[in-house]
Amino acid sequence: HDVPRTQAADLALRTPPYQKLLKRLEEVRRVLGSTRQLTLAEKILYSHLDNPEESLLTGTQNGKDIRGKANLKLKPDRVAMQDASAQMALLQFMTCNLPSTAVPASIHCDHMIVGETGAKADLKNSIAGNKEVFDFLESAAKKYGIEFWPPGAGIIHQSVLENYSAPGLMMLGTDSHTPNAGGLGAVAIGVGGADAVDALVDAPWELKAPKILGVRLEGQLSGWASPKDIILKLAGQLTVRGGTGYIIEYFGPGVESLSCTGMATACNMGAEAGATTSIFPFSPSHIPYLEATHRGPIAQAAQAIASLPSERNLLRRDPEAEYDKVITIDLSTLEPHINGPFTPDLSTPLSKFKSVVEEKNWPRTFGAGLIGSCTNSSYQDMTRSEEIVKQASAAGLKPKADFFITPGSEQIRATLERDNTLQTFSAAGGTVLANACGPCIGQWKRTDDVKKGEANAILTSYNRNFPGRNDGNRATMNFLASPELITAMSYSGSTTFNPMTDSIPTPSGTPFKFTPPKGHDLPSAGFADGVAELQPTPGVPDPSVDVVVDPNSTRLALLDPFSPFPDSELTSLRVLYKVKGQCTTDTISAAGPWLKYKGHLPNISENTLIGAVNAATDEVNVAYDTDGTKSGIPELAKRWKSQGHEWLVVAEHNYGEGSAREHAALQPRYLGGRIILAKSFARIHETNLKKQGIVPLTFANEADYDLLSACDEVSTRGLLDVLRSGGKGEVELVLKKGGEEKVIKTRHTLSVDQSAFVLAGSALNVLAKNAKA
Ligand code: F3S
Repeated sequence: HDVPRTQAADLALRTPPYQKLLKRLEEVRRVLGSTRQLTLAEKILYSHLDNPEESLLTGTQNGKDIRGKANLKLKPDRVAMQDASAQMALLQFMTCNLPSTAVPASIHCDHMIVGETGAKADLKNSIAGNKEVFDFLESAAKKYGIEFWPPGAGIIHQSVLENYSAPGLMMLGTDSHTPNAGGLGAVAIGVGGADAVDALVDAPWELKAPKILGVRLEGQLSGWASPKDIILKLAGQLTVRGGTGYIIEYFGPGVESLSCTGMATACNMGAEAGATTSIFPFSPSHIPYLEATHRGPIAQAAQAIASLPSERNLLRRDPEAEYDKVITIDLSTLEPHINGPFTPDLSTPLSKFKSVVEEKNWPRTFGAGLIGSCTNSSYQDMTRSEEIVKQASAAGLKPKADFFITPGSEQIRATLERDNTLQTFSAAGGTVLANACGPCIGQWKRTDDVKKGEANAILTSYNRNFPGRNDGNRATMNFLASPELITAMSYSGSTTFNPMTDSIPTPSGTPFKFTPPKGHDLPSAGFADGVAELQPTPGVPDPSVDVVVDPNSTRLALLDPFSPFPDSELTSLRVLYKVKGQCTTDTISAAGPWLKYKGHLPNISENTLIGAVNAATDEVNVAYDTDGTKSGIPELAKRWKSQGHEWLVVAEHNYGEGSAREHAALQPRYLGGRIILAKSFARIHETNLKKQGIVPLTFANEADYDLLSACDEVSTRGLLDVLRSGGKGEVELVLKKGGEEKVIKTRHTLSVDQSAFVLAGSALNVLAKNAKA
């Protein structure tokens, strides 16, 4: 049965603090001078600064070179967490002993639900298999006043768009596709749990001021081209690293022709280009979307702000604002694109796809077409796909590939059911999966007869397509495209089929050709709310709730605070492992089967560095103790920990590249790691290490990497002074070897705050202390 969703109290919590932000924008203008022109992303970000003057003027030339230079200390309005990452975020938050979260927050149970036979059975099995974790999340949510969206309620980013995102909002989400909310004009950034805790306890969250990449949209989409194609094309141009350190800001006349949900799709996949986030300006389509999702008053407030003169207008860029780079896309001539396999930036226009498939000898057939997910399950996406199905059904056709549909939320599912869209998919042979991540996060129990290791293709409307991502088979080629294109291609089952030009023979023998799909941006009868059981719990704290963590659990473990830095230099640190070559966050903390231990630090630490190559022997995950005893890396780390020997890791370039996975910093710290000494670090991981109390150092002379071997002992010189002076000075490592003493000069990037984290033992210890005070 349907229930009313948004109550007046919720709406107040869901409205960005516009008056405060407008005041803050005035202050930013005062600091930077009234003539300074700002982009939209800058306006929203800088209006969320804790102290604009300090952030914008420190380390910059009087605020002229903020981007890429300034360290922004931000106060986000909201936090969203998905079930897998929420566990460690909440465990960390709990150590601060606060009665409630400082900003509104939500938890979404979506990642731990499989996609196999269909929504009902899959949901039941997944809830049974993860009950302990879901119970923990729900009880913590109730205690601290976090809205809890139960399993099956929807995928984090779709639920956020429907309920929380709003023009001018700034939010953090513990998931890399959090930027999806930028479709509704928010600055929404994906982070690790420790960063989310900053916002949850009202501590400023630090971000190096991003550069801004302007994407100018001209013309208007038509025919088969969809909003997904904007980002598929852009990802091809930028590559997976091209957006790193940038916010992608869309502008230009083409914006006004796009649906709100279409803009969200483009923002969602900005993550595939490595962008910090993506954002669209306030646009006419935001108003009906906010109204249809029960947030009419937010639409009115935003509209009023968007009409203010430029200098006070929080929701539009200044007319002369400059971008660091500009890319122009003409929507009128944009073709559908297909990206992949194995990387989201391998982009091919549909008209060339057949020849590329033939040239590269990719599979000519594909086994499954999967539509929906957080990227593409809007009413517009689904009704355009439905129209394709109706055309094919009328011609007597059935899909040749397996066809799966993942609604992004209960609201969209219930609406599509009411409007008979889901029935159309099911009648055509499609399987409607739970409102959850399912196959997108590898929770897909594929039932067709593809063997592990066998090359095969699938088409999805998702956003990621790394090897093994969907079905655990690294040989499965996942090609990314719009849902309507996938739906049409599923009827031929062929990767070389172009529905814009090719025909399919019908049972009667006559050729059938699709006409371009038409859909509806929004349901004419409004959105249905869905079943009562899948509504969120209210965001009101209840101190009487006990958050129960079974001490014998293998899935969850309460965290013990890390001990503070000693009142002395570190002496007799041993080299646990000297890593050769690439060392990503996957190398340091593997995913796959280990995901189930995300809330249990001792258990997940059993995977620490198991992908690392031993520089002396080329073996993977083979470490040697001082007496030559051979073991896995986690075993040696545990043994040294039990013997009271702290350790360091020696590594090469870009240590910790990949994701923001905080477990890659938490685990070494838990096992007794004190220093990572590398040739260079990936920026986010370097910050994560400092937050967990590990000191990242780089070689002043890269060649010194050769001086060190596993089991060598080093002592620090100068580190204590550096920490006590807030990052001033240099650190040397003194290596005693063969009766000789060698000094290794290093560099560090410890700021004042980060020095305090290391001294206290972790950022969390600082937060907990401040919270108590
Ligand atoms: Fe879930 Fe895939 Fe999106 S894992 S959050 S549906 S990217």
